[in-house]
Amino acid sequence: MKKIIENERLYLRELSEDDLEDLCAILQDEETMYAYEAPFTDEKVSDWLNWNLASYQKNQFGLWAIVDKNEENFVGQCGIVYSEVEGKNLLEIGYLLNKRYWHNGYASEASALCLNYAKNILQAQKICSIIRDTNSASQKVAENNGMTIVQEFYKDYSGLPVKHYVYSIDLVK
Ligand SMILES: CC(C)(COP(=O)(O)OP(=O)(O)OC[C@H]1O[C@@H](n2cnc3c(N)ncnc32)[C@H](O)[C@@H]1OP(=O)(O)O)[C@@H](O)C(=O)NCCC(=O)NCCS
Repeated sequence: MKKIIENERLYLRELSEDDLEDLCAILQDEETMYAYEAPFTDEKVSDWLNWNLASYQKNQFGLWAIVDKNEENFVGQCGIVYSEVEGKNLLEIGYLLNKRYWHNGYASEASALCLNYAKNILQAQKICSIIRDTNSASQKVAENNGMTIVQEFYKDYSGLPVKHYVYSIDLVK
């Protein structure tokens, strides 16, 4: 399995078909998915995996698996994706962890690795995280990455407008 980046405690690697069960544990959990429109069906989990596999081929990045080196366990997903906000394609760091592993600093560490990857490997000018206004945990992770709010907009959740923020950081000084 292709390892992408690492620090002392964890590494990020490409997802594969073997991760479907671990992906379901995250993407089909109601509490974990509260900031999204709804938990995923089996079909949507498969689409999500395929979307990431295609992105590795096309972009050299996507959402990766976060693995703790000690236990070799699947902690969650973190990586880089393109997201569209009001007609603009933004480079985004995304993260979703299995709730068993929340509050251990994993998302902050994994997203810091992605920020370095965007800066040093992709040589991106800037990167953002797009976050629902009530998602304090995710906002804290973005702030830990040095990001600040640069834009607010509304996403449509089954006909209801839901406020989101674009947190962003310039990678070139
Ligand atoms: C958001 C998420 C990835 C954070 O993962 P995590 O590994 O628990 O995050 P960390 O342990 O790195 O914590 C980051 C900070 O957020 C704080 N935090 C964690 N949960 C919090 C909460 N519910 N409310 C407020 N702050 C919270 C932590 O105390 C920590 O603060 P610190 O850096 O000052 O110590 C995780 O909660 C998750 O998977 N949520 C569901 C999916 C999701 O919402 N993804 C983001 C979509 S934009």
